[in-house]
Amino acid sequence: MSKSPEARHILHSGYFHPALRKLQTPNVEISPHNLMFPIFVGNNEKPIEVKSMPGIVQYGVSNIEECLKPIVNKGLKSILLFAVEYGIPKDERGSYADSPRNPVIQVLPKLRRCFPDIIIACDVCLCPYTNHGHCGIISKDGVINNEASIERIAQVAVAYAKSGAHIVAPSDMMDGRIGAIKKCLIDAGLGNRVSVLSYAAKFASGFYGPFRDVTKSAPLFSDRKCYQLPPGSKGLATRAALRDVTEGCDMLMVKPGLSYLDIVKQTKDTHPEYPLFVYQVSGEYAMLYHAAKAGAIDLRGVLEEILLSMRRAGADCIITYFTPVILDWLQIRS
Ligand code: PBG
Ligand code: ZN
Repeated sequence: MSKSPEARHILHSGYFHPALRKLQTPNVEISPHNLMFPIFVGNNEKPIEVKSMPGIVQYGVSNIEECLKPIVNKGLKSILLFAVEYGIPKDERGSYADSPRNPVIQVLPKLRRCFPDIIIACDVCLCPYTNHGHCGIISKDGVINNEASIERIAQVAVAYAKSGAHIVAPSDMMDGRIGAIKKCLIDAGLGNRVSVLSYAAKFASGFYGPFRDVTKSAPLFSDRKCYQLPPGSKGLATRAALRDVTEGCDMLMVKPGLSYLDIVKQTKDTHPEYPLFVYQVSGEYAMLYHAAKAGAIDLRGVLEEILLSMRRAGADCIITYFTPVILDWLQIRS
């Protein structure tokens, strides 16, 4: 005769009904405010499909209003802007990053006017604009010149803030950039009007491949392992988040997402007072897209499970290229 388990060992009684399952999974739901949509903007007359990321479109300054309107109507709450322009002049210091011709600088006032309720973040980095393709300024000996880099990054951040960004998000991983940006924002009278979202724990990852292809921002020589974090290091991720908090960032980010959920958890546990973002990056998007297309997985089921895992690990906001698709699903459900 088989013995039934002791009462307290019976788990099934706690989750046999959908309403009970909801009670067992608190704070992991996705609402529109938990999603941020990364957007590529150029000067193209018409929207163009991004080759390395099927399903993703590069908008133009002249067509972004009509392209975004349907997504805003579905509940879009926040976006993260990246400029994409081919054939631009590149130099040692990434002058084009804050040129008045830069599509991000041009599109910001327009977006503020057309979509007053959307919160707009701008990625701040030099790599799409430097002739060497690195995220900072390089000394003659080929090593990052940190002081010159953070001065320049802060200049660019202030330019985006002045053009209308609510959030500046430095992704360069130079030391001391948060402090430098905060100081310049305060000096510019923007201290209380602009948030700094730090890509605090950004790892040197193979998952950025499709993105670098879009933005043509791969380094010409060497790699980014001397400033992006080594994927095995929890310690540096802890120190980087603490350092950026100490320098005055408003929000934290972990990037990439799925392979780094332990880092999401440790960052949230250590800094529960700070909203935490996780970036489901281009390679993660591509993996899911192609797996679903090949019939290996059901996109909706698997993506919902991943979003849930990210929330469970401690993410408050998920930056994902799937945002429009997820907003569709949220509408169908409600
Ligand atoms: C630029 C930047 C990158 C990404 C965001 N900002 C590429 C990189 O650091 O190499 C990656 C985004 C993605 O892969 O979706 N520093
Ligand atoms: Zn960069």
